[in-house]
Amino acid sequence: MQSVLITGGAGFIGQNLVHAWCAARPADRLVVVDAMTYAANLRSLESKIADRSILFVKGDIQDAALMRRLFEEHKFTRVAHLAAESHVDRSIADPEAFLQTNVLGTFTLLRAALDAWRAAGTLAHSRFLHVSTDEVYGSLQSTDPAFSESSPYRPNSPYAASKAASDHLVRAYVETYRLPALITNCSNNYGCYQHPEKLIPLMIIHALAGKALPIYGDGSNVRDWLHVSDHCMALMAVIERGRVGETYNVGGGNERNNRDVVGLICDALDRAFAIDTGLASRFPSCPAASGNSCRSLISFVTDRPGHDRRYAIDATKLADELGTRCSVNFDDGLGQTVQWYLDHEDWWREVTSGAYKTWIDKNYGFRIAV
Ligand code: NAD
Ligand code: DAU
Repeated sequence: MQSVLITGGAGFIGQNLVHAWCAARPADRLVVVDAMTYAANLRSLESKIADRSILFVKGDIQDAALMRRLFEEHKFTRVAHLAAESHVDRSIADPEAFLQTNVLGTFTLLRAALDAWRAAGTLAHSRFLHVSTDEVYGSLQSTDPAFSESSPYRPNSPYAASKAASDHLVRAYVETYRLPALITNCSNNYGCYQHPEKLIPLMIIHALAGKALPIYGDGSNVRDWLHVSDHCMALMAVIERGRVGETYNVGGGNERNNRDVVGLICDALDRAFAIDTGLASRFPSCPAASGNSCRSLISFVTDRPGHDRRYAIDATKLADELGTRCSVNFDDGLGQTVQWYLDHEDWWREVTSGAYKTWIDKNYGFRIAV
């Protein structure tokens, strides 16, 4: 039985990880810490908080006193560190919060873990998993081999630079202080509970509202899509069975360009409206409600500055060492994700109320059709 701290547990991957962890290891005690930024949502965890299968603490990972107190009270033996500012476009518009949370927040947490585990003499039995991104490796050309754990760091956005800095800090804590930490660098996640600022949910929700589907540049940028359930399985394998001090890349093996992804979303929505006639009355502004294709909404707009061309992950090490392979086929996973958003209108209406509109105006207001 482990005492587990999950930071950022009210975010997209965090919520999915909490559910996966509770299902796989019901005897563990889970404490979720989250600052509840715009990206957080507790709806899916409410019943677990109410029946005390997890403990939720609203707090900032930069709060050193709080982190110290939590380590003292709960004697964590596992830390899954996911709390972060995670959206590239926001990091371009306003980078400061990324430095604060992703760099200083990670530092605060590393120090709290080291101090607590040293004082308790539990360094050898504890594990600190730092969840990072493939964006630290920069951008690939179409013929380049996929990123491996030995690819050089070449971050291009303030977000990627802040995650790279946090990875370096984790590595330094392993080398200097022998903190038992591990790092994962994964590709683009998708699935349920993803905030609609990110490509896939944004396109679904825009299409349902009959709004333009804003593809940056020419839409040929490639991402390697990883279903969040596969990612969570990999995270649990790495924290339990990975070698301390090592990095493991996690990828979906599903490289797609953005044009194709948005096209597939449109096709899935068109099919859903054809099968479920009730959708037309719920979403009358969607072109599919009147028998037209959602593809008619596709619009190519001003590109993201420094837009990385391609990400791709070589996940051989994860498979060879830990026997963990991603299994969700992209077409199936995307279809399920589209259906999840159709089935959870209340969830995304709540998430997209208030400050979301301000963000959409800020990020898309200046973009012109190209
Ligand atoms: P998210 O933005 O959905 O969630 C992040 C969570 O962290 C939110 O609940 C937020 O409230 C919380 N948070 C932010 N600042 C905090 C602070 N100072 N203290 C405590 N909590 C704070 O992000 P996500 O997509 O779930 O990503 C989780 C982690 O995985 C991040 O570290 C991200 O860099 C990494 N990652 C994500 C992806 C992806 O495709 N989503 C891919 C690679 C790596
Ligand atoms: O690769 C891992 C990373 O994936 C994570 O570290 C980040 O936290 C996560 O946000 C994600 O970053 P991306 O920038 O790749 O994801 P995003 O969903 O913002 O964009 C995916 C692609 O779609 C990217 O090429 C930009 C493009 N895009 C995005 C949006 C929001 C558009 O064309 N239009 C859009 O409106």
